[in-house]
Amino acid sequence: MYPRIDEKALEEACAVLQAGGLVAIPTETVYGLAADADNREAVLRTFAVKSRPTNHPLIVHVASAEALPFWASVVPQQALDLARAFWPGPLTMVLPKADRCGSFVTGGQDSVAIRCPSHPWTHALLERFAGAGHKGLTAPSANTFGHISPTCAAHVREDLGVKPTGKLDYILDGGTCEVGVESTIINLSGSRPEILRHGAITRAMLEEVLGCSVPDAGSDAPRASGRLKSHYAPNTKLEIIKRDLLEKRLEELASQPVAVMASFDPRKAHPNVPFFLSSPASPQGYAHMLYEALHQLDKARCTRILVEEPPQTADWAAVNDRLGRAAADKDA
Ligand code: TXA
Ligand code: MG
Repeated sequence: MYPRIDEKALEEACAVLQAGGLVAIPTETVYGLAADADNREAVLRTFAVKSRPTNHPLIVHVASAEALPFWASVVPQQALDLARAFWPGPLTMVLPKADRCGSFVTGGQDSVAIRCPSHPWTHALLERFAGAGHKGLTAPSANTFGHISPTCAAHVREDLGVKPTGKLDYILDGGTCEVGVESTIINLSGSRPEILRHGAITRAMLEEVLGCSVPDAGSDAPRASGRLKSHYAPNTKLEIIKRDLLEKRLEELASQPVAVMASFDPRKAHPNVPFFLSSPASPQGYAHMLYEALHQLDKARCTRILVEEPPQTADWAAVNDRLGRAAADKDA
């Protein structure tokens, strides 16, 4: 459950955005770093604040599906069907971009990613901000490029912070994000729909609405920073270990402090584990706490993080994807 909407805070966030400022906004997936998508300078500042390369395209967040023709030059029936099924919600659609959409938003590509978030605060903010021109907000995750994505306002305060000591103009604190991992991205700008990023809207859910198969995008897919091998990464080296190998690995690391997330508590048998988190049994529960868990495991002052491998089935795709990137070598 999200806290009740603070109308004063919403009004202030809206005014800051209209003036070209940067506001961290709560969404159901992760916190976003919002700017007026029509304001070139403001949008470019989000790249600087995140230290993100400017050729990595941003998602335009809109108040409803009615905004689609204002940002996309072609709106196929598939997009309308998906919007009806999943918007507002954690699904982003990539479509051919409209002239209105600046190349500073799309990283120079001729397609644009669009999403209508369901978090009640940000939904209300977008309705207030949109106006007759269906204005939108660009919002990458509100973290320094490559860091763990924020799922509560405290994560944003710690990483980017608010002026004068930090980098943002305002943080809209709408509680903890319910989904916990970034939106599913589907590319509808090519010859057939394909998944660019896994999220809470699963392949099966997309296929059911579209009535066709929706494969993963090939390696020639459009640029997406969430597709970099090392992303969403803690500073401490993280290993994903199958359950039956976990105890053996802990013995090998007996001389080091190790932080563990697993389905069983290994602390009695392994005194080198000062910090343990119990892994949730459902993919939704796991996604919800994953980034907070990575933050905590990273802060546990250990030399290694071991995570028990979750189930390798389709409904765990988003969790396994993000864990895999958290474990990837930074210079790989
Ligand atoms: O859940 C989310 O989507 C969050 C919240 C804040 O809405 N936002 C988010 O934004 O994850 P960001 O910038 O961290 O990730 C956006 C992803 C990137 O991987 C980007 O490359 C991809 O969307 N993307 C954006 N425009 C694209 C385009 N035209 N073609 C292909 N990928 C695109
Ligand atoms: Mg991100």
